Amino acid sequence: MAHLILDPVMTNSTGFILLLVFLFGVTILVHAQQQTGFISIDCGGPENFEYTDEDTKIKYVTDGSYIQTGVNKNISSDYAYPKNPNLPYPLSDLRSFPHGNRNCYRLIAGTKGSLHLIRASFLYGNYDGENKLPEFDLYVGVNFWSSVKFKNASEQVALETISMATSEETNVCLVNKGKGIPFISALELRPIDNSIYKTEFGDSASLLLFKRWDIGSFNGSGRYQDDVYDRIWFPLNPLHGNL
Ligand SMILES: *[C@@H]1O[C@H](CO)[C@@H](O)[C@H](O)[C@H]1NC(C)=O
Ligand SMILES: *[C@@H]1O[C@H](CO)[C@@H](O)[C@H](O)[C@H]1NC(C)=O
Ligand SMILES: *[C@@H]1O[C@H](CO)[C@@H](O)[C@H](O)[C@H]1NC(C)=O
Repeated sequence: MAHLILDPVMTNSTGFILLLVFLFGVTILVHAQQQTGFISIDCGGPENFEYTDEDTKIKYVTDGSYIQTGVNKNISSDYAYPKNPNLPYPLSDLRSFPHGNRNCYRLIAGTKGSLHLIRASFLYGNYDGENKLPEFDLYVGVNFWSSVKFKNASEQVALETISMATSEETNVCLVNKGKGIPFISALELRPIDNSIYKTEFGDSASLLLFKRWDIGSFNGSGRYQDDVYDRIWFPLNPLHGNL
């Protein structure tokens, strides 16, 4: 920050404007590095806790300011670190919703018409000691997004959708359909430059695309730092039925 030391030249107005321009430039740079507009929530963590995931460099916060309902749980130690050394950190805890049919996270981002990439991640990890895999539904606002199902207690399920905001508030809701208690491990929102997707999809649909697939880890899949929108890119393979 040695550049910011004011010398007498800076007291004239040109110098002052130059200083402002310089500071503004620095601010933009810092924002670019700090994941501007990203909402990265580690669901079910301790109150008011934030950290940077070492693997992805993504800064997570816990979910207290996004939702008032539900209870915090940790996955069973059988599925957690150190027994599972490759476990992505955000998946070690979760928030479950034993009460109410519909529980929603309230995300404030962008304005009407903004495009968002929304990603929800789930790892059951026998958190309730019941060893029974739940099945439930996910909505963005009133739009059905996907059912959430698991093959086993260690499966990491990640769902992504690209959604057009209908206001500055986007609700992501978990809906109980009588097949077990809904829960969620991580929820992320990334703003997307509308011009990129407009050309591909037009701007009428509220849910432009969704896909469900299994990811082995959050590593090396071309996330944030490789891709400014932090999309998880994956090879399309119709044999895996993952579209
Ligand atoms: C989950 O584990 C962490 C770390 O061991 C602990 O601090 C926290 O209280 C646990 N949370 C719950 C809901 O049991
Ligand atoms: C991710 O990659 C880093 C560096 O290659 C490695 O140290 C880390 O253990 C990996 N994490 C997972 C979850 O695979
Ligand atoms: C759980 O399911 C996933 C996805 O099908 C699979 O890759 C993994 O091997 C399974 N794990 C166990 C312990 O069965």
